[in-house]
Amino acid sequence: MRVGKTTIIAIAGASASGKSLFASTVYQELVAELGSDGIAILAEDAYYRDQSHLTLEQRTLTNYDHPSAFEHELLANHLDALHRGEAIAMPQYSYTTHTRLAETIHVQPARVIMVEGILLLSDNALRERFDISVFMDTPLDICLLRRMKRDLEERGRTVQSITEQYEQYVRPAFFDFIFPSKQFADLVVTRGGQNEIAIDIIKTKIRQLLAE
Ligand code: C5P
Ligand code: MG
Repeated sequence: MRVGKTTIIAIAGASASGKSLFASTVYQELVAELGSDGIAILAEDAYYRDQSHLTLEQRTLTNYDHPSAFEHELLANHLDALHRGEAIAMPQYSYTTHTRLAETIHVQPARVIMVEGILLLSDNALRERFDISVFMDTPLDICLLRRMKRDLEERGRTVQSITEQYEQYVRPAFFDFIFPSKQFADLVVTRGGQNEIAIDIIKTKIRQLLAE
């Protein structure tokens, strides 16, 4: 089914475990070193379903930690297109308005594609497409502290809304979907996006692939 040489690296783990930081550190450091031709980066969050047909109040009721919140079929189609050597229009998502933006991001096919997100390894069809799977095994209390700070500072939330969402959706989804998907990882990374040894190991692997 797969043609050409494309390696897809998935980075999964709890919300605020350091996935985005880990992926963007690897990406930016390699781009600074080698240029941007060989490597592309995608976010599962960009594939949250479009909710522009709902009111803002209705959108706040969605369970964003359940697999049904994501358009995983579109992500799978985009991974396949990149694999075939075709460019994609990756959606852009706003955590403030809980829906997609009108503009998309043009992503060129690349030898190595990194994709990061909470539920990547819990989806069978997506898992089949990954060549290397990484799980960020950051303690859940650290994730919660980070999430509280980030959602207050960057995602326009209140302490009350963060607490309610965490208890109702985020924590249960960790135990139902995210933690059980750890078994599918090739590499388990402790301490999240600041684990420099793990960042270095992935960078070394990508350098090797780009040199082949
Ligand atoms: O970056 P991170 O992995 O934390 O992003 C995923 C998290 O974003 C999910 O745990 C989900 O609760 C949250 N989210 C949200 N509001 C949205 C979409 C996602 O709080 N509109
Ligand atoms: Mg993130």
